[in-house]
Amino acid sequence: MSGWNSIPELGALLGEEVRLRGWVDGRRSSGRIGFIQLRESGATVQLVISRKEVDEASWEALQHATQESTVAVTGTASADPRSPGGVEIHVSSLALVHGADGYPITPKEHGTAFLMDHRHLWLRSSRQRAVLRIRSEVCQAIHNFHRERGYYLVDSPILTPAACEGTSTLFETPYFDHGNAYLSQSGQLYLEPAAAALGKVYCFGPTFRAEKSKTRRHLMEFWMVEPEAAFLDFEDFVVYLAERVLEHCADPLRVLERDTSRLEAIRKPFPRLRYAEAIDLLRNQGSEIEFGDDFGAPEETSIAEAFERPVMVTHYPTSLKAFYMEPDPDDPTLALALDVIAPEGYGEIIGGSQRIHDHDLLLSRLKEHDLPIEAFQWYLDIRRYGTFEHSGFGMGVERFVAWMAGVPHLRETIPYPRTMDRIYP
Ligand code: 4AD
Ligand code: MG
Repeated sequence: MSGWNSIPELGALLGEEVRLRGWVDGRRSSGRIGFIQLRESGATVQLVISRKEVDEASWEALQHATQESTVAVTGTASADPRSPGGVEIHVSSLALVHGADGYPITPKEHGTAFLMDHRHLWLRSSRQRAVLRIRSEVCQAIHNFHRERGYYLVDSPILTPAACEGTSTLFETPYFDHGNAYLSQSGQLYLEPAAAALGKVYCFGPTFRAEKSKTRRHLMEFWMVEPEAAFLDFEDFVVYLAERVLEHCADPLRVLERDTSRLEAIRKPFPRLRYAEAIDLLRNQGSEIEFGDDFGAPEETSIAEAFERPVMVTHYPTSLKAFYMEPDPDDPTLALALDVIAPEGYGEIIGGSQRIHDHDLLLSRLKEHDLPIEAFQWYLDIRRYGTFEHSGFGMGVERFVAWMAGVPHLRETIPYPRTMDRIYP
């Protein structure tokens, strides 16, 4: 049915009669006047209902308009400098569409487990709406960034016959007469052939890791954007996304009380250090980390805090990295890998590398990693027919959104988080 207005357009309708349908975010009344916070299109507006200005049925509807009931309202949009959107509605009539009884999430404090059990309802709260709006902006900006630079979107499959990022985090599922299939850990391997076909390409979709860790930075299912091309610019990408969030998400950032000066500080150039230098830096700070150890969350936090900007760490020992990474020609024990570590404790947001383009070297790496050679024949083909130097990276959307939004736990950055101990709702 047409003829309904939406809250974001009210600013342009001051003094006019408007019609809205939405949910009761909150309600209070004092004698002959009532107020409803109406939620619609992800925003809220205050409805003012005065007993002497509405009919008996509207006043009755107000009495039954409990939290999260749906209502339909007609009224006049008026300027109200105290409200966030600058508008309130003086109601002429109010009707109850559906009275909600006993909505479980009340304004009192709830524990995380309770909220996660009610994730489908928790999404309606102002903080969760703010995070999801930032996520939506980030996803749109990821597409815009690549399209503006001539990249083609190429979708990688989710059901795959082989591992990309190590065999310890694979989700398996039976696949008819072909034995087991695995849920994709990364679209990268499928993107490399597409780069030979189309040039600059990227994929953007869900990826899966059976990570047996319950940290705030790990999900079993997360979204990753992966560009693949001859030259890549990590810094431009991160700066572009942060600028889009600052430009288009002022309202959600305010709801989240995000210190936006930290986001404004995301400027090029990002400091760049080799893995060996990062180890020295950590040891100078008193850490007992040894060359060859992987960074955990505390190490990543210390490295990034030393610069207060995203930091690029390069030249990791090959033993810490995936089979497909090109060795450093000056020291083949190191990989031409590049990770970006975000400040404020958000950790590794980007992992990338140059790819091995030599057929025989790639074959020997597959063997060293004990990977089934038959399952990788198609991937070796890219090194048989017109091999080329290329690089790529992957950025986890949830880690990036957590950083932008200033929320410490990834579970709030994806609509329905999949963690080790949860698959409901
Ligand atoms: O460093 P990773 O494992 O790199 C790859 O998958 C490469 N194939 C990417 C490429 O070169 N095309 O993962 C990339 C990023 C990480 O930096 C992190 O942001 C995110 O994916 N990520 C996770 N996010 C949430 N939960 C997890 N379990 C994640 N594992 C990785
Ligand atoms: Mg990584």
